[in-house]
Amino acid sequence: MNCSEILNNGKNFLKKNNIKSPILDSELLLSKVLNKTREDILLNSNHILKKHEINRFNSYLLRRQLNEPIAYILGFKYFWKYKFVINNSVLIPRPDTELIIEECLKYLPNDKSKKILDVGTGSGCIVVSLLKERSKCKATAVDISRKAINVAKTNAKLHQLENKINFINIDIDKYKSNNYDLIVSNPPYVSSIEFKRLDNDIKFHEPILALSGGSDGFRDLRKVIVKSKKLLKINGKLVLEIGHKQKNQCTKILYENGFYINKISKDLSGKDRCIVSSRL
Ligand SMILES: C[S@@+](CC[C@H](N)C(=O)[O-])C[C@H]1O[C@@H](n2cnc3c(N)ncnc32)[C@H](O)[C@@H]1O
Repeated sequence: MNCSEILNNGKNFLKKNNIKSPILDSELLLSKVLNKTREDILLNSNHILKKHEINRFNSYLLRRQLNEPIAYILGFKYFWKYKFVINNSVLIPRPDTELIIEECLKYLPNDKSKKILDVGTGSGCIVVSLLKERSKCKATAVDISRKAINVAKTNAKLHQLENKINFINIDIDKYKSNNYDLIVSNPPYVSSIEFKRLDNDIKFHEPILALSGGSDGFRDLRKVIVKSKKLLKINGKLVLEIGHKQKNQCTKILYENGFYINKISKDLSGKDRCIVSSRL
């Protein structure tokens, strides 16, 4: 069987199983099997596959049929300007979260050495992207999940930042070190009702610890805000990712905890997604 034939089989199989992007997914899975780019494969569509390559491709198709996200099967995801290793212990980095990077960078001058804390680091995509842009900064990244911390450490190493980021496996509630210039967090913020409505790809495959923000969706946002009040320097910045319906309640919690709201930004689809505030 050649590339063109196997891609056609893959496409038909995924389509029949209601997978949303059957052509792209088949191409990505074959590129993983052959360790070649999609372009290379399409340019050499007559290339004959070996038996073990066909078997591997078919095993990936079966995983995709069960709604496993393509990023977990591939084992990586691009975020900001970089490639991140991922597995099902961490949230798949989202393009919307790149907004957080843009906002943080505005408060991290190129020539200054600022102290950053990333709460709920997951794959480490936020903290690694920030430190790649700001070589003078130093950071701590915490996560309640030991497995997530291991993935984040792998990514820090991949991007030669292992000496600049201190990774700690801890619940933010128990974290004590203070004096940060900037705290950034994309905490779990999905409410119980919204959780039930999530796509199967997300609901059954991404870690619940990374998604569920308790019954109202504010359990962890509240924790991060209350804790940041203690951990930030005066006038230090708190940059939060929020759910698109959480702006009003989140603003209220920030005011109650002595923060000034600097800015609320919208994501790529025009929804409120990021709040920047300052500790007064
Ligand atoms: C939405 S994910 C964000 C992952 C990554 N920062 C990103 O933006 O892709 C939230 C992360 O917070 C972690 N987390 C949840 N509760 C926590 C807590 N109480 N303390 C520290 N980390 C927590 C989860 O394990 C998960 O990795």
